[in-house]
Amino acid sequence: MNAAQLLTLQAAGAKPGPRRGPALKELAIIKDGAVLCLGGKIVSVGTTKDALRDPWLKRNRRNVTEIDCAGKVVLPGFVDSHTHPVFASPRLVDFEKRIEGACYEEIAAAGGGIRSSLEGVRQTPKNVLAAKVVTALEEMASHGTTTVEAKSGYGLTLESELKSLEAIREAASRWPGTVIATLLGAHVVPKEFQGCSQKYVEIVCKEMIPRAAKRKLAQFVDVFCDKGAFTPKETKQIFAAAEKYGLSVRAHMGQLSETLLEPFLRFNPASFDHMDHVNEDDIPQLAKRDTVATLVPGANYFLGLKNYPDARRLIDAGVPVALATDYNPGTSPTISIPMAMSLACTHMKMSPAEAVAAATINGAWALRVADRKGSIEPGKDADLVVFDVEDYREIPYWFGANHCAMTVPNGVVASRE
Ligand code: NIG
Ligand code: FE
Repeated sequence: MNAAQLLTLQAAGAKPGPRRGPALKELAIIKDGAVLCLGGKIVSVGTTKDALRDPWLKRNRRNVTEIDCAGKVVLPGFVDSHTHPVFASPRLVDFEKRIEGACYEEIAAAGGGIRSSLEGVRQTPKNVLAAKVVTALEEMASHGTTTVEAKSGYGLTLESELKSLEAIREAASRWPGTVIATLLGAHVVPKEFQGCSQKYVEIVCKEMIPRAAKRKLAQFVDVFCDKGAFTPKETKQIFAAAEKYGLSVRAHMGQLSETLLEPFLRFNPASFDHMDHVNEDDIPQLAKRDTVATLVPGANYFLGLKNYPDARRLIDAGVPVALATDYNPGTSPTISIPMAMSLACTHMKMSPAEAVAAATINGAWALRVADRKGSIEPGKDADLVVFDVEDYREIPYWFGANHCAMTVPNGVVASRE
């Protein structure tokens, strides 16, 4: 209660679907706001004055934990809709090589890149991987994140991909927030299959996807569709297998080069991620659909790129845009959504309000959990964060500092000052 600003992100219009165009900056702010939560769900939202008049609260005030948010901002917990947390070690050699002038593709061709993370994951026991994922989830929560999409993708054998998904499941059970798991068996063609990628695609389609689906280890299947990774034809094959086994799809698209997106729309992807290179003709198609463009400026920053995704072009054309960290050891070793928001403001010209909506309600749409996450509305999960700032614009403004004072995932007070 007493929140200087309560960012509810309640939808203004009746139109369902991810926020797009001008609606992306509507935060539905209540001054001196209060939220009442019960059993992990939001019960009522309004001003502190309204809350104090509530007859139920009057009767039960003694049994309610009150959190005084005077002078602070309360908003929905961030939804980080793109992360790769299952890896064994940081890639410090890649980091140095890049500083010396090598680019992402050159590093990959010289034996670095995604392939250099595979041995580590293949050899690391599941419980050790799970512990690393828990550490990342806890750090994410301490920066305001309450829902995380977590991908496998650094094992790339049937066993190690299933082990990675099991590590995600184990970590999720030890964290009060919400984790959505994604199978990224198609991250890159491992070197045992170089020159015969089709054989590897068959393993993804006929072994990994069916096994992950049967054991309910993943909700989504992701593909890195780009030069040096998987072709559009292979991506369609993998999407078709996911569809057959009842899993939804998403893909890394347009990070290094442009791929035409229209042919994938029949699979109803939840999101296309990165989107540094987008064909003009795809933009009006995306504007008509709920497939979210998930932008991950942490990767552009960490790779030292001059160019960032053209967020303005996408938003102004009506494409729904989300922001995520892309937490991974190669291109974006950050767990911080506020950092991604800051980069979105400074390098992609998104307004602070757009950045907030992209990291909350549109992240929820990108994970197909918008019915319960991403905004502060009665009936939704009690995923709230408190920032020790008086104005929400300070969240992306004070870059590199953590002003998150408290995270409340599913009604559990996970971290506080
Ligand atoms: O999202 N592009 C593919 N996957 C990751 C990078 C993975 C890595 O370099 O380890 C990304 O940027
Ligand atoms: Fe990624």
